[in-house]
Amino acid sequence: MTSTGWWFQAKHALDTRGPFPRRRRGTLAEAVTGRRVLVTGASSGIGRAAAIDLGAAGATVLLVARRETELDEATRTIVTGGGKAFAYPCDLNDAAATEATIARILDDHGGVDILVNNAGRSIRRPLDQSYDRAHDFERTMRLNYLAAVRMMLGVLPGMRERRYGRVINVLSAANLFGGPGYSAYVASKAALDEVSTSFQGETLSENVTFTSIYMPLVRTAMVAPDNRYLKAASLSPEEAGRVVCDAIVHHPRRMGPTFGRLTRLVDAISTERADAARHRRFASGI
Ligand SMILES: NC(=O)c1ccc[n+]([C@@H]2O[C@H](COP(=O)([O-])OP(=O)(O)OC[C@H]3O[C@@H](n4cnc5c(N)ncnc54)[C@H](OP(=O)(O)O)[C@@H]3O)[C@@H](O)[C@H]2O)c1
Repeated sequence: MTSTGWWFQAKHALDTRGPFPRRRRGTLAEAVTGRRVLVTGASSGIGRAAAIDLGAAGATVLLVARRETELDEATRTIVTGGGKAFAYPCDLNDAAATEATIARILDDHGGVDILVNNAGRSIRRPLDQSYDRAHDFERTMRLNYLAAVRMMLGVLPGMRERRYGRVINVLSAANLFGGPGYSAYVASKAALDEVSTSFQGETLSENVTFTSIYMPLVRTAMVAPDNRYLKAASLSPEEAGRVVCDAIVHHPRRMGPTFGRLTRLVDAISTERADAARHRRFASGI
């Protein structure tokens, strides 16, 4: 973790403590041993780190992403450590390929017990540079929302029938703070959040749970090109992978930085104040 000054230290402490303290529900091994866990975006960053921890804890890990070499390397790392893992290379932007991959996974393994919707792309582009870029909104929706929905539609029938299922959606802390400058990205993640809230309302009595993780900044390839983050407080991919694993163990409905959750409370009480804070943040270039 890198930091600058007391403000970042204090904010980091609030941002990265993960969920509020909660009743422990056992260990990761107890939660995943013998379970089939599908992780999208498992070729790098948060997804890769989570997949490796899950494999070490006894899950059968099903890894999905486009880059075959990286996917095979992550799979090998799990298998070499004594775990079970299978790679399913797939471009989740391609609806037909995504559905074929889900069908193959269900055929090979008989079902999925835990789904981690982690694959994603981020776009930082302010409004004044977006007027001719409706496709930014389409491509973030295609991957961050529609692909994740396709995954859920594929695995939920089996989860509901077996009366066990955990769906973990990796969203962004910007979904709590608001994301001026990241509108296409934040909107696509918000859509995933909303659809999961509706699904949860339908499946609550079936032991099928949905967790929204409002992930703070993580030092992965996704943020590497943005030098504004060089000195910002952040999690390592391994720490973020453990947040995903915690979500599986505790399966809270929402999980995220305390600071961001307080921001949401302020927004609920006075949206004008929250708008003003968002505008100040955007104007200051953060
Ligand atoms: N880093 C952060 O600060 C941060 C903060 C909040 C939330 N998040 C979220 O965390 C998730 C993981 O991101 P990361 O930070 O770990 O970045 P990353 O290392 O770039 O990982 C992104 C993953 O998504 C996969 N992916 C991208 N496009 C895909 C496609 N069309 N089909 C299949 N897989 C695809 C990538 O694999 P391939 O390239 O091999 O396909 C890669 O495994 C994302 O949903 C991101 O929005 C990140």
